[in-house]
Amino acid sequence: VYTDRVLPRITNRLLDNPEHRRIRERVVSGLSGDVLEVGFGSGLNVPYLPAAVRRVQAVDPATLGRRLAADRVAASGVPVEYLDLEMDRLPLPAESVDHVLVTWTLCTIPDLDGALAEMRRVLRAGGALHFAEHGLSPDPSVAKWQVRLTPVQRLWAGGCHLDRPVARLLEAGGFGISELRTYYMPGPKVTGYTYEGRATKS
Ligand SMILES: C[S@@+](CC[C@H](N)C(=O)[O-])C[C@H]1O[C@@H](n2cnc3c(N)ncnc32)[C@H](O)[C@@H]1O
Repeated sequence: VYTDRVLPRITNRLLDNPEHRRIRERVVSGLSGDVLEVGFGSGLNVPYLPAAVRRVQAVDPATLGRRLAADRVAASGVPVEYLDLEMDRLPLPAESVDHVLVTWTLCTIPDLDGALAEMRRVLRAGGALHFAEHGLSPDPSVAKWQVRLTPVQRLWAGGCHLDRPVARLLEAGGFGISELRTYYMPGPKVTGYTYEGRATKS
């Protein structure tokens, strides 16, 4: 009940502040055609999608987000099609989407290697994975606390890990990082270390 009905309302508020909005605007820039958004949440990226996006195919096991997204989707010119995961597989043919979008989601997916393999499978050659994710800090004193606090964070935040080395995991998943900026968002460093960029199939 908490994960499906309460947490989506909390993230709908927490991830919609001016700093997140600035990052969303940057991350979606350059998207076009058919875009798969993994971890669609409450559609907080929708208002920033470029006009060149023809359609968003949205995946998220917490389907309450679809209701919370309704006004944003209605106000946007971009059609959103909701897909259900089939045993952790995306119900899409290989090489069928132009780009993949993930924001603040890779921390939460239980089988991240499997999910990255699926994103890679459906992404067309020439397309890119656009991402903004929090994860493991290179600063040992922050990383130590990220490892310590992850069990607690996972309990209240729907399985969210503070200590995932996002860039390394993308590379291990068969993506080559073509653009990367890393920084701390304002607020606690354990949750704030951010990896933002683009990756393509390597
Ligand atoms: C912190 S929220 C971020 C939502 C949205 N991406 C945003 O930027 O506002 C993480 C989302 O990942 C979703 N999620 C968890 N496991 C997932 C999976 N296996 N596949 C896709 N989404 C998943 C959660 O339901 C949740 O909506």
